[in-house]
Amino acid sequence: GAPLKSLAARADLLFGTAVNMDALAEDKTYRKITAREFNSLTAENVMKWETLQPERGVYDFSQGDALMRFAKQNGQQVRGHTLLWHNQLPAWLTEGVADGSITKDELRQILREHITTVAKHYKGKIYQWDVVNEVFEEDGSYRQSLWYQQLGPSYIADAFRWAKQADPHAKLYVNDYNVEGVNAKSTAYHNLVKDLRAQGIRVDGFGIQGHLSTQYGFPGDIPQNLQRFADLGVESSFTEVDVRGVMPMDEAKLNLQADYFRGMLDACLDQRKCTSFTIWGFADQYSWVPDVFAGEGSANIYDESYAPKPSYWAVRQEL
Ligand code: XIL
Repeated sequence: GAPLKSLAARADLLFGTAVNMDALAEDKTYRKITAREFNSLTAENVMKWETLQPERGVYDFSQGDALMRFAKQNGQQVRGHTLLWHNQLPAWLTEGVADGSITKDELRQILREHITTVAKHYKGKIYQWDVVNEVFEEDGSYRQSLWYQQLGPSYIADAFRWAKQADPHAKLYVNDYNVEGVNAKSTAYHNLVKDLRAQGIRVDGFGIQGHLSTQYGFPGDIPQNLQRFADLGVESSFTEVDVRGVMPMDEAKLNLQADYFRGMLDACLDQRKCTSFTIWGFADQYSWVPDVFAGEGSANIYDESYAPKPSYWAVRQEL
């Protein structure tokens, strides 16, 4: 049948995957499916700080550029992930902050320089940037990250200002997990976006990662959550969707997983301002899940031998 991306295009949706650059280099089938099924790509890792700025002031865009070339060859758009996060930071940065050799003033300059350099490097080629990733705790308080501890909450407004200056055409996003439905954390984002916009700072989008597990219930009020961001005038996207399960999987769990994929995609398709839907990889053998969630796996739409799972058919049917 038609590839997923052409079904998505008919619905005016960008349908994406995260890309593992090692798999893309080594695995022909992976490369083929990446090219064939998706009209949007996100770097799973290679646009994060530790890859892009391995030494202070020394940038390495080689892998990010390889992804951009692949996307261009295949007529695909690229989501940028991420200009700021508390994980996958280079050691020179975390150690420099810890031992006091990087002062707060310097840290702010480092942040400004990184955002400016990276967003300028990809200027005009990224349709959405995750400007800040995972800045709140579950209860809606600010995450006690290195950025927050050193710079206070104003680092967020700064990050958006610098990103806009460097690449005014990209849609600028906040992004987080456990924000699918209406809860304390998604409400914190709603308030943040409202406050920033009231201060004249441009924020264009709300990114919902969508990392779910079949061992927990499906978030019930996703449409209402998307709608309240639409009411603020911002778009939304599902940015990292996968649905893991406790191993071993069985038919019931695979079907439940399919329902979760369908539920998130359905909410996006039903919301005019939901513009992209990205899954966090498509092939179970490259998934981040088993490394991070003990005992869980099988989170994607193709199994380890690239056989489509019920979640694949659910996505296909929904599109
Ligand atoms: C994950 C990658 O998938 C892994 O390969 C890496 O080791 C750690 O990061 N939220 C995010 C993503 O915003 O960047 C994370 O990606 C998954 C959780």
